[in-house]
Amino acid sequence: PDGKNPAHYSIVAQEGTTEFYQGVQTETYGYNGSFLGPVIRIQSGQTVQFTTTNEMSKETTFHWHGLEIPGEGDGGPHEQIEPGQSKKLTFPIRQQAATLWFHPHPEGQTAEQVYKGLAGLIYVEDENSQRLGLPQQYGVNDIPLIFQDRQFDDQQQLNYQQFKNNDGTIGDTLLINGTLNPKLHVRREPVRLRLVNGSNARNFTFMLSTNEEFQQIATDGGFLNSPVPLNKLTLTPGERAEIIIDFSKLSTSIDLSLINEEGVVLLPFTITNERTTPQKMQDVFNQFSTTSEEQQLPVSKRLELFGMGTMVTINGKQFDRTRIDFVQQQGVTEIWEIYNKPDMMGGMTHPFHLHGTQFKIVSINGQAPPLNEQGWKDTVSIEPDETVKLAVKFQDKGIYMFHCHLLEHEDNGMMGQVKVE
Ligand code: C2O
Ligand code: CU
Ligand code: CU
Repeated sequence: PDGKNPAHYSIVAQEGTTEFYQGVQTETYGYNGSFLGPVIRIQSGQTVQFTTTNEMSKETTFHWHGLEIPGEGDGGPHEQIEPGQSKKLTFPIRQQAATLWFHPHPEGQTAEQVYKGLAGLIYVEDENSQRLGLPQQYGVNDIPLIFQDRQFDDQQQLNYQQFKNNDGTIGDTLLINGTLNPKLHVRREPVRLRLVNGSNARNFTFMLSTNEEFQQIATDGGFLNSPVPLNKLTLTPGERAEIIIDFSKLSTSIDLSLINEEGVVLLPFTITNERTTPQKMQDVFNQFSTTSEEQQLPVSKRLELFGMGTMVTINGKQFDRTRIDFVQQQGVTEIWEIYNKPDMMGGMTHPFHLHGTQFKIVSINGQAPPLNEQGWKDTVSIEPDETVKLAVKFQDKGIYMFHCHLLEHEDNGMMGQVKVE
């Protein structure tokens, strides 16, 4: 497809049922299906057209988390689609290869709709991503993993209102790609996992059960400059990371699995003895830099995150769709300084997310960010009493949200709007 013939995708929000437990139908939502949604693969440089349709009995919006898109197509609370209605969007893809996702964003209703299953993935590919020698056989050695914790009631239903918590609804049951108790079969070769924290509120920490190293190759919005070796990685809600686990090099432990910090198994691996001859991976992935110019820029926007439960605020205010909180010029880099102000109880970690662009983390408490956060980001975890500086530039115009990605905080008004002109 080229500019004249955009690649077309049809995305339909639906209500349905899903069999998580044998013989039991759980009421769920999904895109083009009953739970979660498709992986939409788009090529940088291409023009795409999305037809979004709401077949549900309640309003929704279609938000493209991480996509650089004009404000009108971004799918924030202003762009509500009524039941039975459709909307068409056409826009060019100019950003680099990355693993993005999409989910609803209706005012005050985001948490419940995501909880019940509305979320899908967008892969942006480009020449670079084809050239790097990365594993790219979908579902074989290039695997999307959406992590979500959920609570099922006595009837095995996702009864959001029963379990709702204003500081983040968490559950005792892990779903990966909507599956209970999944396993992953891999061959003895490097395997690329695209990790997505799609939970409402839970942080996920990933480790190998043998505590061996893996490599992080990408952040929310693109590749790191080169693979960063880690033996532990934490993602807050909304964040993504791509990692490579080289199963040809790991010890052949029979119980090799992805575990969390407490040692709980998240995903067991079964390793087949089949060997492959993987492509040689390049060592240089990207040319990401925080220039000294950006480091020298004065702070021009200050945000203070504060509160808990229904009392969450940004700069002392709660979301008001008729109020523009900030104005920024298109194409101009500004430094946003975000401070998470503790309260008497100590405060909470807030995953701060900005729509419509990818930003750079300039500093965290005055220090350079860790190597694996020196890449394009759209969501950053901010701990109590922490100050994070971001270099923010918008390629497009329009109104964009910024908010806490703990979805109940977002619904409770921990959100504001920046107008790019
Ligand atoms: Cu992932 Cu405003 O959203
Ligand atoms: Cu978003
Ligand atoms: Cu929050």
